[in-house]
Amino acid sequence: MAVLPAAERRLVVLVSGSGTNLQALIDASTDPSYGARVVAVGADRDGIEGLARAERHGLPAFAHRLRDAPTREAWDAGLADAVAAHEPDLVVLAGFMKLVGPAFLARFPGAVVNTHPALCPSFPGTTGPADALAYGVKVTGATLFVVDDGVDTGPIVAQAVVPVEDDDDVASLHERIKVAERAMLVDAVGRLAREGYTITDRKVRIGA
Ligand code: GRF
Repeated sequence: MAVLPAAERRLVVLVSGSGTNLQALIDASTDPSYGARVVAVGADRDGIEGLARAERHGLPAFAHRLRDAPTREAWDAGLADAVAAHEPDLVVLAGFMKLVGPAFLARFPGAVVNTHPALCPSFPGTTGPADALAYGVKVTGATLFVVDDGVDTGPIVAQAVVPVEDDDDVASLHERIKVAERAMLVDAVGRLAREGYTITDRKVRIGA
């Protein structure tokens, strides 16, 4: 295992799909001044590009499938164990398409963040870009938030805004969101790692 500088925060990233947000974090952390490094990648399924990216970078990677667990609670606790084994300072849900539960959140209090492809509190859930398009909003974007026990309801760390174009379909809109989302994620996670943060009521404050 690599020996990390004391100031380099350990990130465990959970994914369910292509892992382009994961890749952006891996790429950012090749610069030692970034302040954080991806130390492991987990998923809720096998055979996805997100896990392949981890393996290509020599990172520990694991799949923890709901269907292999006797109950949702057992899956949640097992996922917490699998993540905790890598001693994260911050757990980043980057396109992880399962809700983590109370046992998971209790293991990493205030240290689980999720990126969502909409401007919270608008359009929570798994169809944010499609819902924004159907509603007819003129701007949408991405939100990084500290995960709580709701669906995309936690205290907001950062947001990025993109326009909705007249000829957008869901794919083109989501792709534009993802470009902004990756930049926002890399910037915000780096700042959280380097400067620290506090959460007071719903307010996340980065730095002293
Ligand atoms: C991101 O837009 C994320 O917010 C959403 O799914 C997408 C994942 O993209 N939940 P990727 O796997 O990081 O490429």
